[in-house]
Amino acid sequence: MTRQIDDATRRPRRATVTEDGIRDLVDVFYAKIRRDPELGPIFARAIPGDWGPHLATMRDFWSSLALTSGRYKGNPLAVHRRIIGMEPALFDRWLALFDETCGELFTADLAAAFVDKATRIAESFKLGLFFRPHQTWPPGTP
Ligand code: HEM
Repeated sequence: MTRQIDDATRRPRRATVTEDGIRDLVDVFYAKIRRDPELGPIFARAIPGDWGPHLATMRDFWSSLALTSGRYKGNPLAVHRRIIGMEPALFDRWLALFDETCGELFTADLAAAFVDKATRIAESFKLGLFFRPHQTWPPGTP
């Protein structure tokens, strides 16, 4: 069973979704992303200046999904199409860091609910970005 206090951070794990919990999720997750050797440089190129607007967008995104607040109005697939350096395998790394973060902040059931949503969205992004029904993958293979 997951302990109610995270051993590494000593924070109590949250059992319900709140705006404060979403703020923690976004802050801790993107701090890990920025330190990550694979994902960090991709984000640094896409967001060279102030991270405030990106973190605010991500709070709106997760609040819309988890609290049905309706605050996020964007088109994330279109945004990801423009990101230089996107590759299918990077989604595994993204999800691993997201899973780690949720496990630190939330109880096991709540962490699983967040990770499940993120995994479904990652799958739909991968299909939207990389799946070409009439093309082999990787390109050039028979
Ligand atoms: C390989 C994995 C991923 C990479 C490298 C990546 C990278 C990025 C970057 C660089 C941005 C900022 C773009 C900009 O402001 O110009 C962004 C925005 C965003 N990402 Fe991702 N992302 C990944 C996966 C995901 C996943 C799995 C989700 C959802 C579960 C997600 C949700 C979003 C959302 C909602 C935005 C804001 C879009 C907007 O501006 O409306 N991303 N991503």
